[in-house]
Amino acid sequence: MSCDEKVDCGRRRLIVATATVGGVAGVAAAVPFLASFAPSERAKSAGAPVEADISKLAPGQMMTVEWRGKPVWIIHRTKEMLDGMAKLGDKLVDPNSERHQQPDYAKNEHRSIKPEYMVAIGICTHLGCSPSDKFKTGAESGVDADWPGGFLCPCHGSTFDLAGRVYKNKPAPDNLEVPPHKYLSDARIVIGEDTKGA
Ligand code: FES
Repeated sequence: MSCDEKVDCGRRRLIVATATVGGVAGVAAAVPFLASFAPSERAKSAGAPVEADISKLAPGQMMTVEWRGKPVWIIHRTKEMLDGMAKLGDKLVDPNSERHQQPDYAKNEHRSIKPEYMVAIGICTHLGCSPSDKFKTGAESGVDADWPGGFLCPCHGSTFDLAGRVYKNKPAPDNLEVPPHKYLSDARIVIGEDTKGA
């Protein structure tokens, strides 16, 4: 049997970029049939990798996939986003990713394998709230006039750039965590597994 979007192929499950209300109804109708797939659901909750299709993620857009019960953000960064990040060095706690919030292959100025894609767990490193995306530059995002785009945690005001790097003098102590991940192709990414099988 070939792998498709309805079949759990081994440890991986395909996560599509968009979820709709119609999709939820379809899932509910299929529950009796899918009950026999319970072991795969257990495997998923135990931390099995998830696969995502990023082929339709336009520049400037973000999608979220769930891995180990956590939201993982994938952002297709534009050149303007990358240029804005490059100017932030002295405003950030750990601009060069020297602490331990990412695998070695994300210890670089972009905190990523490919500069144009950010992959990070969307959970604030202060007390675990979910930061809100504030991609618009300047005061339009309700942050500072020189805001280059990023994330604002609504709980206690921590701010993060578009690589998940935390700003200084905020409650959050560390950058957002980058999960293990790898690319299967330009269109497919796996979260929770890298080339070392982590
Ligand atoms: S939980 Fe994010 S700033 Fe406190």
